[in-house]
Amino acid sequence: MGLLSIALSKGRILKDTLEIFNRLNMDFSDIDKDSRKLFFDYEDYGMRLILSKPSDVPTYVEHGVADLGIAGKDVLLEDKKDVFELMDLKISKCRMIVAVKESHCESDPIYKVATKYPNVAETFFLKKAHPVEIIKLNGSIELGPLLGLSDAIVDIVATGKTLKENKLKIYEEICPISARLIANQVSFRLKSEEIHKLMEKLNKVI
Ligand code: PRP
Repeated sequence: MGLLSIALSKGRILKDTLEIFNRLNMDFSDIDKDSRKLFFDYEDYGMRLILSKPSDVPTYVEHGVADLGIAGKDVLLEDKKDVFELMDLKISKCRMIVAVKESHCESDPIYKVATKYPNVAETFFLKKAHPVEIIKLNGSIELGPLLGLSDAIVDIVATGKTLKENKLKIYEEICPISARLIANQVSFRLKSEEIHKLMEKLNKVI
């Protein structure tokens, strides 16, 4: 049947992900985070690890080039793909929030929202029947209110350090976020045994 391929998110989730595999006595420590190599075969474990940009993990899994993936719930909410969400791995926890300038008063209006998550933001404000203009940015979202580009941001917050350093505060919480194990729908049936075995092991360590 070949190796079970798993797409992993590079960046902040990777450390937590490798740590969880470590707890399963799977040593992937030779994955050099700075190397340009993008996939690693571990014949002994029957696994191939693919290193990918976090927002691309669900795409690899949907198209079946990876059987499984580990992706943040933020990415899954923003870019809905036809994949099975199998498990909450309870790692890389953070929160999706709306933030505003520290000087923002209760009565100040919010017309413009800058975000890397336009779909999440739009759904959230639509549900509240609060029409806003969404401005898509690809990073450093905190600059939005500081430069007067937007009245608020929708972003993820972990420690709160970035908000604090940029004199922003949480206005409202949207939802908790953590890393999820996802599967390609065909692989989930064809490689059901291997996938269930891995899930059982993961269940014991999360
Ligand atoms: C995320 C997020 C915030 C920061 C929050 O950015 O967009 O900027 O982390 O973390 P904190 O609450 O612990 O300070 P990330 O580092 O993923 O990169 P980005 O700036 O490209 O979005």
